[in-house]
Amino acid sequence: MKIEGKTVLVTGANRGIGQALVAEALSRGAARVYAGTRQPLAHPDARVTPLNLDVTDAAQIRAAAESVESLDILVNNAGIALYDDLSERAALEQHLAVNLFGTYGVTQAFLPLLTGSQGAIVNNVSTMALAPFPFTPAYAISKAAAFNLTQSLRALLAGRGVRVHAVLTGPTDTDMTRGFDIPKASPESVARAIFDGVENDEEDIFPDPMSASIADSWRNGAVKAMERENAAFVAAEPTAA
Ligand SMILES: NC(=O)c1ccc[n+]([C@@H]2O[C@H](COP(=O)([O-])OP(=O)(O)OC[C@H]3O[C@@H](n4cnc5c(N)ncnc54)[C@H](OP(=O)(O)O)[C@@H]3O)[C@@H](O)[C@H]2O)c1
Repeated sequence: MKIEGKTVLVTGANRGIGQALVAEALSRGAARVYAGTRQPLAHPDARVTPLNLDVTDAAQIRAAAESVESLDILVNNAGIALYDDLSERAALEQHLAVNLFGTYGVTQAFLPLLTGSQGAIVNNVSTMALAPFPFTPAYAISKAAAFNLTQSLRALLAGRGVRVHAVLTGPTDTDMTRGFDIPKASPESVARAIFDGVENDEEDIFPDPMSASIADSWRNGAVKAMERENAAFVAAEPTAA
């Protein structure tokens, strides 16, 4: 799947990794980039179409899907990460609303277009889907759920010709990690690695030095093998003629 000439939608496109993904898609020659944001966005490149898209708002998701004619690549990037200690159920619900149900809702709405184009879904998850950071456990739970959603979608949509990628992103220098004094990748380098992963057809993309350090053991490990064995139970649906 080459980005050149394709139509790409990025959620959470106004800052951080999402903003970098929009710039990277444009520099790779995307024909159209839909930039999903909660606030109005102005972009100098005429190939960018802003979309009013709060991923927790069903009406906005519906309106966005109705306004897009065709789509090759959906990047579910919008996300929140707040400190918590699991003492408040509300914190868990807040993270699940954006990071799990937001991803789910946007994906369902755009699935007919992606099926039509034999396109791709790219879910920006986190290494915390695999190993939680105990200061943001609700976030980690929501990312683990979003990763599992990604794995099931991958199996369920394979027969319809839709590729589903998980991005196991590590620490990246955005507002989300402000205050953490740890090595961080730049959002630009992460965006490049994400689209490299899509173009190279990597199911699970490890887009920064920290996440890349676990890529081989993940790809060759028992859990990945079990994912493939389980996926094989899904009968491939015939592709529409
Ligand atoms: N930075 C990291 O170290 C890191 C590591 C692993 C994974 N990730 C993941 O990468 C993705 C992007 O994160 P980032 O680092 O770029 O964070 P960021 O700079 O905080 O940006 C988050 C983006 O998500 C948007 N967003 C939040 N809630 C939304 C909602 N309900 N509907 C639509 N958009 C919403 C924000 O929009 P507003 O401006 O309107 O708030 C913003 O554009 C997230 O899914 C995050 O979990 C990041």
